[in-house]
Amino acid sequence: MINSKLPKMFYGGDYNPEQWDHATHQEDLRLFKLAGIDMATINVFSWAKNQPDEDTYHFEWLDELIESLYENGVFVCLATSTAAHPAWMATRYPDILRVDADGRKHKFGGRHNSCPNSPTYRKYSERIADKLAERYREHPAVLVWHVSNEYGGECYCDNCEKAFRSWLQKKYGSIEEVNRVWNTSFWGHTFYDWNEIVLPSNLSEHWGDNKSSFQGISLDYSRFNSDSMLECYLLEHAMIKKHIPDAVVTTNLMGFFKQLDYFKWARHMDIVSWDSYPGLSTPYSYTAMAHDLMRGLKDGQPFMLMEQTPSQQNWQAYNSLKRPGVMRLWSYQSVAHGADTVMFFQLRRSVGACEKFHGAVIEHVGHEHTRVFREVAQLGKELQQLGDQTLDALVEARVAILFDWDNWWAVEKSSGPTVALKYVDQVHKYYAALFNRNIQVDMISVDSHFDQYDLILAPVMYMVKPGVAERLERFVQAGGTFLTTFFSGIVNESDLVTLGGYPGELRKLLGIWVEEIDALLPEQKNRIVMTQEYGSLQGDYACGMLCDLLHSEGAEVLAEYGEDFYRGMPALTRNRFGQGSAWYMATDPDEQFLGKLLQQICEEQGILPLLDAPAGVEASMRTKDGKQYLFVMNHSAEAQTYDLGVRSARDLLSDTEITGSTTISGKGVHILELG
Ligand code: GLA
Ligand code: ZN
Repeated sequence: MINSKLPKMFYGGDYNPEQWDHATHQEDLRLFKLAGIDMATINVFSWAKNQPDEDTYHFEWLDELIESLYENGVFVCLATSTAAHPAWMATRYPDILRVDADGRKHKFGGRHNSCPNSPTYRKYSERIADKLAERYREHPAVLVWHVSNEYGGECYCDNCEKAFRSWLQKKYGSIEEVNRVWNTSFWGHTFYDWNEIVLPSNLSEHWGDNKSSFQGISLDYSRFNSDSMLECYLLEHAMIKKHIPDAVVTTNLMGFFKQLDYFKWARHMDIVSWDSYPGLSTPYSYTAMAHDLMRGLKDGQPFMLMEQTPSQQNWQAYNSLKRPGVMRLWSYQSVAHGADTVMFFQLRRSVGACEKFHGAVIEHVGHEHTRVFREVAQLGKELQQLGDQTLDALVEARVAILFDWDNWWAVEKSSGPTVALKYVDQVHKYYAALFNRNIQVDMISVDSHFDQYDLILAPVMYMVKPGVAERLERFVQAGGTFLTTFFSGIVNESDLVTLGGYPGELRKLLGIWVEEIDALLPEQKNRIVMTQEYGSLQGDYACGMLCDLLHSEGAEVLAEYGEDFYRGMPALTRNRFGQGSAWYMATDPDEQFLGKLLQQICEEQGILPLLDAPAGVEASMRTKDGKQYLFVMNHSAEAQTYDLGVRSARDLLSDTEITGSTTISGKGVHILELG
């Protein structure tokens, strides 16, 4: 429980008073109170202010700031300021500057730009975390520690190259093993000495749109890069814990962020926090999926919504305003999926540089009489009224989708069979089919426990890691339902193909053999023709992108291809295995097909929608102490009607009793405590 000292959802966000004078700070405090703001994330980008040179540190301004926030009822999420190194440090110690994939050494500028293997960066970031933790270890205002900010990017400098070799030595032990897992007999790449290994960049193995001549090398570089940044996080983390063993330490993640294996990171975070920046055209099912992934990082523990914009961003091509009600709606959507805080970037809009056109609670006009401020203040009031009711409540799902960063990297580094295959898009397609029916989903790692679920989906499980196939077999054997798709079971964790026929280790479970994989041109389609009715599936449906040409080895064929030379070959199979069944979707079907398929599979398992509601109305449930909180969210602009059936409920937001058929306004939210 992060909220023991402030038993409600924290409300506030990034605050950068170092950009303002004293009078403005005073005015901010008045406005925070008006908006119901009780949490400020500070010190995110103040390293240069904190440390003007090698040996001098100035934290007096922070002392004063923390004190005045606290006196005004605002708690602190204290960042360590290490996400942008000072200019003097870069001039004096150029090893802190990154080298990009084209081999260009960067100069001072921007942020999130320190080389993760720079001895200078590691030394000074560790030291400042140490000093901050020592100084504020007993301060009652500091409730959360925020290490650095949005780790990401890559570095290809000589220090990283050396560190990569050590990382490989530790992982593989011998150069022979490295040669084996990278299959270096291909294109005469055999290495005889560790020093012959270089980073896979545009100067070596990489070409085109993020493609690699050696996927094994590039995959290991991605793992190494993620680990290097994690080591930086851990250095600061250790300093904080040294002074404050029970500190709540986090760093703000970014949802489906490709470069870092967040499942690995989350093990070292006391609470997951993340920054949610959907564009106006981002499907709201995608945002929901990202929240579910963030909840899944720590086995379903609630997370912090660390940042979202109150109104607009500056870094998109077209920075539309969140329409009236949308900030509130999306805030509750994050809560519905497991957030225990609602926080913004930023509290006051800066006067210069690239974020001056980024939305803020306090706009350039400087007062409270704005649409954005009014909406923020209304939500602030509601969160105060909700108090601790939903805090720590869990989201319970019977359906899980497997998600895996190594698989993501490997699928998209693959040369062939198609550039159209995007892992997250495929996962989203399956997620959305369930989401649209208000079926709750957990996004889990391949290392999670499977037995609590009835249905597990693994779209494009190209890479099968050691032991996963056996665990899935046991899951199905015991009665579970498993579904995977085309381009699954192809390689092991080193991106080496499992020989003897696709889908490799999953072949027995699925009862099929995939002989060939056809890639379709963007405008090309095939047809899925049902060989029997299944639920409401009958007749034929469009499919495309990839088509597996497969043979059943015991699996039942529910649909076949309708076109081309492989007309009549299986397109959808189900294999009875022990008490359960394992499905294979051999191609990329249209949404209608997928919706009906998953609806029927769920129905057979007795997995029912949370709510019978029209399109555009989302439902998600959190439970706590035997109480059920059903969040109903209307993403459409018009009022909608949904039916609670025989259930009765109290809407916590309007404090009214609700039964039967109910109207929810456009962009409206109900939080129903079910009776
Ligand atoms: C990120 C960063 C913030 C800010 C916002 C703007 O989330 O963490 O510092 O730049 O983006 O959207
Ligand atoms: Zn580097």
